[in-house]
Amino acid sequence: MEHELMNIKNNAVSLILDAKTIDELEEIRIQFLGRSGTLTQTMKEITRLPKQERPEIGKLANETKKIIEDALSQRIETLSQQKVSLRAKKLDVTEPGVRPPLGHLHLITQAIEEITTIFSNLGFTKVRYPEIEWDYYAFSAVNFPENHPARDDWETFFIRQEPHPKKGPVILTPHTTSGQVREMEKGILPIKMLNLSKCYRRQSDVSHTQMFHQFEGLVVGEGISITHLKGTLDYFVKSYFGPSRVSRIRPYHFQFTEPSFEVDVSCGVCNGTGTLKQVQGDKEVSVPCRLCKEGWLEMGGSGMVHPNVLKYGGIDPKKYTGFAFGWGVERVLMMKEGIEIDDLRLLYSNNLEFLEQF
Ligand code: DAH
Repeated sequence: MEHELMNIKNNAVSLILDAKTIDELEEIRIQFLGRSGTLTQTMKEITRLPKQERPEIGKLANETKKIIEDALSQRIETLSQQKVSLRAKKLDVTEPGVRPPLGHLHLITQAIEEITTIFSNLGFTKVRYPEIEWDYYAFSAVNFPENHPARDDWETFFIRQEPHPKKGPVILTPHTTSGQVREMEKGILPIKMLNLSKCYRRQSDVSHTQMFHQFEGLVVGEGISITHLKGTLDYFVKSYFGPSRVSRIRPYHFQFTEPSFEVDVSCGVCNGTGTLKQVQGDKEVSVPCRLCKEGWLEMGGSGMVHPNVLKYGGIDPKKYTGFAFGWGVERVLMMKEGIEIDDLRLLYSNNLEFLEQF
């Protein structure tokens, strides 16, 4: 009897799932659960079984009945919903069409295009050098002594591969500065390059992503001086951030430049004053600017190319000089938008609610 009940259940359920109409389901119900239905008849026979077998088979029969009833009501519900949606879908030719959603370039791609255009207006040529790089180009050739602690600041990813006898270990480039000596090795002067590329560092938190973008400017020629650097910075700042913004340079230290500078941009929120006027009660008071606090926003590094770097690139530092700068795309973008993204990782998280705002 157990076997019979199982067959009934399997048959009923497969018929129910195949049924296309509610009428068909009613027929199936009668076939199995009606007064002379298969299950009803089988259940009647239970009384003829030996007494000790009856409770267990009785329980099984009730479960079978419940399964069939549930399958029936579920299928009825599905079919009636389909009917409603079919009715709703009746074609109305007068209804306006639905516009497909239009995407746009990612905000970092937009920034990359804008930055590239600004520098190409100044005659810079865009180049890209390997993201998987030798230690030599990223560090040694840009004047980092072997085992110098400054290498630690770059939090480098190493690739598991035999180091090159001359060029050392293989790494993921931690900065676009690695393109400087590669560009010099081409042997064409003067140089006016913009190296824009992905960079990698072992840092991931609210203000760092392990992959980010930098753009590196390098100009080498005869008589290149700090005034050329300052003019380039100002041109970029006014073109990218707006005509009212100005740049300033502050002394700093980098291995690959001498002298080295940090570049700041006047803050767009307080107009470089560091304070904002606020009405409190009936008085107007000055409060510190919420974005910059002191009138300037830090953009990144720059400087005059170190003579040793020129030598590594096969260029005579007595005859030629150069300037360089290297900034983060994500950083300048956030400065331009005047936004402070709570978590920089949002930029690469494919969150449409965030991306659609730009
Ligand atoms: N490579 C530096 C970094 O990743 C940035 C930098 C500073 C690049 C000064 C330069 C420069 O070209 O002159 O932090």
